[in-house]
Amino acid sequence: MKAMLLFSFVTLMLSVFASAQKKPIDVHTLANIDEVVVTHLNLDLSVNFDTKILSGSATLSLNQKKKTHKLVLDTKELTIEKVTLDEKNTPAQFTLGEEVKYLGKPLIISITPKTKSVTVHYHTSPTASALQWLEPSQTAGKQKPFLFTQSEAILARTWVPCQDGPGVRMTYSATIHTPTDLMAVMSAAGNSETKTSDGVYHFEMNQPIPSYLLALSVGDLEFRSLGKRSGVYAEPSVVDKAAYEFVDIEKMISAAEELYGPYRWERYDVLVLPPSFPFGGMENPRLTFATPTILAGDRSLVSLVAHELAHSWSGNLVTNASWNDFWLNEGFTVYFEQRIIEKLYGRDYSEMLAVLTLKELQKEVANLGAISDDTKLKLDLINRDPDDGMTNIAYNKGYFFLRLCEETFGREEWDNFLKKYFAENAFTSMTTEKFLAYLNKNLLSKDKSLKDKLNINAWVYTAGIPENCPQPVSNEFNKVTAQFDAWQKGTPASQLNTQGWTTHHWLYFLRNLPDSLQLEKLIELDYAFYFTKSGNSEILGEWFLHCIKAKYETAYGAMGRFLMNAGRRKFLKPIYTELAKTPEGKAWAKEVYEKARPGYHSVSFNTIDGILK
Ligand code: BES
Ligand code: ZN
Repeated sequence: MKAMLLFSFVTLMLSVFASAQKKPIDVHTLANIDEVVVTHLNLDLSVNFDTKILSGSATLSLNQKKKTHKLVLDTKELTIEKVTLDEKNTPAQFTLGEEVKYLGKPLIISITPKTKSVTVHYHTSPTASALQWLEPSQTAGKQKPFLFTQSEAILARTWVPCQDGPGVRMTYSATIHTPTDLMAVMSAAGNSETKTSDGVYHFEMNQPIPSYLLALSVGDLEFRSLGKRSGVYAEPSVVDKAAYEFVDIEKMISAAEELYGPYRWERYDVLVLPPSFPFGGMENPRLTFATPTILAGDRSLVSLVAHELAHSWSGNLVTNASWNDFWLNEGFTVYFEQRIIEKLYGRDYSEMLAVLTLKELQKEVANLGAISDDTKLKLDLINRDPDDGMTNIAYNKGYFFLRLCEETFGREEWDNFLKKYFAENAFTSMTTEKFLAYLNKNLLSKDKSLKDKLNINAWVYTAGIPENCPQPVSNEFNKVTAQFDAWQKGTPASQLNTQGWTTHHWLYFLRNLPDSLQLEKLIELDYAFYFTKSGNSEILGEWFLHCIKAKYETAYGAMGRFLMNAGRRKFLKPIYTELAKTPEGKAWAKEVYEKARPGYHSVSFNTIDGILK
C-alpha cells in the first residue's frame, strides 16, 4: 500500500514537472488545464464578519480532456479541510504544493479518469487579498459591516479554489449564508430587491465565465430600479444619489446593442461600494461594482459605467486568453466606451475623452520609458505579478490602435467586423495572435495596402507610440487652451471665461498646468475656482498633484482627508508617488498612510507599500 502511494506520488510529481516544461498560454495559473477543465462551480459559503472568514465548500464539475489521475487547482491563503469525489463523497487524497511567488499554492487532488466532480471543503484567511472586510465606520451608514470581493486578475484563488485563468470558463451557482440584517449580491442571476428573512441567498450564472468574474458582496444594501433590465444597489443613504447619477443606463445598453449586437446577460445592475473599493469599476457580469467617487452629483463621470457595460462584450463575452493579452479586454473596452458616449452625448464629448486618453498615453510611455517592453500591447509577464501589466498601455495604446483601424477601414466596415467578431467568438477566449489572424482574414486580406498603413507590428510588438497614432482634436478643449493662454499672458484667473465648462474641461485645464507652477499662481487659481473644495474626485486627484509640486500647504488638510477616505488606487498612487519625491513630502505621506492603510484594500496597499518603503 505504502509503496503504491509513493509510486503514485512520484508519477504525479513527474507529470506536474513535465507539464511545467511546455510553454503554456497562461503563465499565471498552476492548474493542469490542458488535461482537465472545470465546467461548473457550485459554492456554498457562510459569511462570518467576526472572524472575517468565508467557509463552506466548492463543488467543481470536471471535463477530462485527457483522462487523468490528478486535478490541480489554484489556491492562495486557503485552508483546505477535506476533499471528496463525486456524489458519493468518497474522500480523496490531496496535497497543497509549495508556494509559488505571486501565484499561491497548487492544490493537487488525486482523482480517477472517471471522476465527474470534486468537492473542496475550505475556509479563507482573514487577510485574503480578494476580500475586503469593512468595519461599520468605513461604510456610508456607519452601522453595519460590509464585504466585497475583487477577483481580477488572479485573486479569485484567495476565496475559491479554482482554475484561476481567463482561458477557462464555467457556469456557477451559489448559496450564501449571511447575517439576516445584510444582503448578499453576486455576479449572477438571483439578486433580490429586498433582504431575505433567513439570510440565505441563491444565485445562478448560466453563461460560462472565467474565474476573475466571480464576485460577491454583502452589506446593508437597497435596490432602485432604473428600467426594465437595469437597476442600482447601494447603501440606503447612497442609493437615491446613485439612481440619479445613472439614469442613462438603459440608453447606454441600447446604444451598445446597436453598435455591437445583443446584450447577452439579461440584466445589467450596478453596485455602488464604499469608498475603499480599489478601482473605479469592475465589470462583474450582470452586476458592475463601482466606486462611490463617480457620484459627482452632475452625472459627469458616467463614462465609467459605459466602460464597465462595454466589458459585457469586450472581456466578458470575448475574453483575453491570458493577462499578456490584457489589451484585448481593456483597449477594446475603452474604444467601445467612447463609441457609446459618442452615441449618447455626441462627438464633442467623446473627442474630449479621446484627447485625455492620448495625454494619459503619452504620460504613461514617459513613465515606463519609450523603449520599455511594458509599452507593447502584447505583454510578457512571466515570473511577474500580472498587476505589473495593468498600466494605461493596454487601455490607451489599445484604444488608439483600434481607432486607427476604424479610420483605416472606415467606420461602417469596422463596425460590421466588430459585430461579427463578438458574435462569432462569444463565450470564448482570445489571444492577440488569434485576433490578428481574424483581422487578417476578415479585413486585411481584402486590401494588402492597408497592412502597411496599419503597421500592426509597431502597435502590438514594438515599444512606444507608433508614428501613425491618430491625433484627436477637441474644439471644446481649444476653448480651454485659449483661456489658459490668456491667463499665462496676464488675464487674472477670476476673469477667465469658463462658462459651461464640465469636469472634462477642468481636467484638461489642470493637466495642462506646467509642473513648475509658482505657488502664487496656484493660490490665484484656488481663489478663483475653489479646487481644494471640489467634491469631484477626478478634479481633486489632479489638483493635489499640483499642490504637492508647489508646496501649497493650505490644501494638505483636504488632501489628507482625501487619502484617508478614498481607496481608489488610480488616485492614491500618483499622490503618494508625488509626495515621496521630497523628504518632507515622504515623511508627511508616511504619517497619513499609517492611519489610512488599514482602510485600504490589498490591491491599493500593496502598491503604496512599494512607493513608500
Ligand atoms: N477591469 C478593470 C479593473 C481591473 C483591471 C481590475 C485590472 C483588476 C485588474 C475595469 O474595467 C477598469 O478598467 N476600471 C477602470 C475604469 C475605467 C473607466 C478605465 C478603473 O477602475 O479605473
Ligand atoms: Zn476595463
